[in-house]
Amino acid sequence: MKIIMLGAPGAGKGTQAKKIAAKFSIPHISTGDIFRANIKNGTELGKKAKTYMDQGLLVPDELVVDLVVDRVNQEDCRDGYVLDGFPRTIPQAEALDKALAELGQKVDYAIDVDVPDENIIRRMGGRRACVTCGATYHLEYAPTEKDGICDTCGGGLILRDDDKPETVKKRLSVYHEQTQPLIDYYTNAGILKTVDGTADIEDVFRAIVEILGA
Ligand code: AP5
Repeated sequence: MKIIMLGAPGAGKGTQAKKIAAKFSIPHISTGDIFRANIKNGTELGKKAKTYMDQGLLVPDELVVDLVVDRVNQEDCRDGYVLDGFPRTIPQAEALDKALAELGQKVDYAIDVDVPDENIIRRMGGRRACVTCGATYHLEYAPTEKDGICDTCGGGLILRDDDKPETVKKRLSVYHEQTQPLIDYYTNAGILKTVDGTADIEDVFRAIVEILGA
């Protein structure tokens, strides 16, 4: 089962991708998480990615594509995976299709988590991420048991640098310009499925599980 999560920044791709990965025992591959781990570890890739991410811009395709193609070729991806945050441009989608075609494989589902821009701005202000393990919460919609403490690892919670309102607005405009064309791309491929991302987290997940036929 090879699944792509589409949707605006903050639509809930990561929240749903983690639940899908847990239910179907497949890896959750988030390019945003990969970049954030590289930034935390001070790698060259992290330094380059940060300059784009902090401005709300996409990291250039050449820094992303090989990284993802290598990752999906690893042994644990044999039975499928859920890609969260990739592809984000038409060239990335074409590169993924080409790499999979060489292996006689293809993407099975592209799931668009649909949320209007006005809901996004409100959501992002309330998101909190664990500095240690990267788990995500929301002050209102997905709170931790103890204020400011990660339920999973006990780490501290922060507002991501790119979740500040000005950067969120920039990320939304980049999404509409560069990523939304993927909706047509996967509609034409006959694999696009849309879910209402404004529903409760569990209701969105139920809709996705139904699409996946499980
Ligand atoms: P990335 O980390 O992928 O950011 P994003 O796509 O902007 O998505 P987010 O992680 O912000 O949101 P999400 O949709 O996962 O929402 P979440 O589940 O957290 O990428 C960051 C940056 O890295 C990019 O801007 C770019 O620079 C770079 N990058 C990454 N991949 C790249 C690529 N392929 N090419 C180039 N550059 C790339 O939910 C948001 C909040 O809402 C949470 O607090 C959550 O608890 C809450 N929530 C979720 N669902 C619901 C719901 N149904 N109701 C109420 N609240 C909800």
